Amino acid sequence: MPPPSHPWPERPFSLISTTPYLDYVDLLPARQDAVRVARLMALTHNTIFRAFNAIYQQPESIHPLNAADVNSFIEFTICAIDFLENHHRCEELVFFPMLEAQAGIPGLMGDNVEQHRAFQGPLRALRGYLKLVRLGAFPFDVFEFRDIIDELAPVLERHLHDEIPSILEAGTHMSDEAMSACYKALHDEAEGTADAFKVGPFVMGCQDDTHLVDGRQIAFPELPFSLAPYLVEHVVARRHADVWRFCPSTFHGRPRKTEFLSGKFGATDCGSTVEEDVAGDRTELAVKGGSKKKSGGRIGLVRPWILPSIAVVFLLLVWLRLYLGILFPECSREGL
Ligand SMILES: [Fe+2]
Repeated sequence: MPPPSHPWPERPFSLISTTPYLDYVDLLPARQDAVRVARLMALTHNTIFRAFNAIYQQPESIHPLNAADVNSFIEFTICAIDFLENHHRCEELVFFPMLEAQAGIPGLMGDNVEQHRAFQGPLRALRGYLKLVRLGAFPFDVFEFRDIIDELAPVLERHLHDEIPSILEAGTHMSDEAMSACYKALHDEAEGTADAFKVGPFVMGCQDDTHLVDGRQIAFPELPFSLAPYLVEHVVARRHADVWRFCPSTFHGRPRKTEFLSGKFGATDCGSTVEEDVAGDRTELAVKGGSKKKSGGRIGLVRPWILPSIAVVFLLLVWLRLYLGILFPECSREGL
């Protein structure tokens, strides 16, 4: 369960908090790269879980007739489906065959492939539903939408949890170098086939740095340079900015409240975003083009121009008092 201050109910998908690495630690080669890969895979799967939890929790606040919000939400959901499907495509094409070859055990990852098949139906139904809404066949219906995810959730969640021990098991049959090479091939295949303007902001916006795996805070995704989140935030994410309003975190891994978390039809005119950092009490309002109106129960807003305005008015009054005192000292003495 998330801590009480966490702005997100992480359900219906439970995040992975532990790997069974202790069961394998004596069987793995010295460097234990399989543990590292299993943890990175757990964080990849948590990215999927957080995205789908955001998808499950937010649509109640989207007015079905607000075409801009509905379309942005559909796009965010399609990003999650694309990410999930591409992840499994890369695993089946590159990762699993390489693990089996290195382990010398054909079919070692077969159960995982079978589990992939188990949720293809509900995933196809979800994509089909979104396509028909987008085409205008019927308005978006939150209950119908959630029914499809409810069907998807148990099989998808089970697979994404089950895959972790199977990586550790595979690691007991190969060297550290071989395990790292398999993971690198997976990573390269995924990176080479992804739309950076979508996958970058999607992955960065679905992280939770407060969530520990095996009691550790593990940097994820592994970034080429430390300023990468700023590059995503200020450059890459601009292309589909409306879509990332549904991200459950900032691009710096901090879980946040979004404007779509406050209940039925809480969202208003599209384009405004309310964020609340978990750690601090700073509340930030980022308004992207347009007025804003928030329903009851929203977090308080501290507009950035209020304090400077008060200071300017105060200084003006002081100056006016001094100025009048110089010109009309008798008025000043009388308190006018
Ligand atoms: Fe996976």
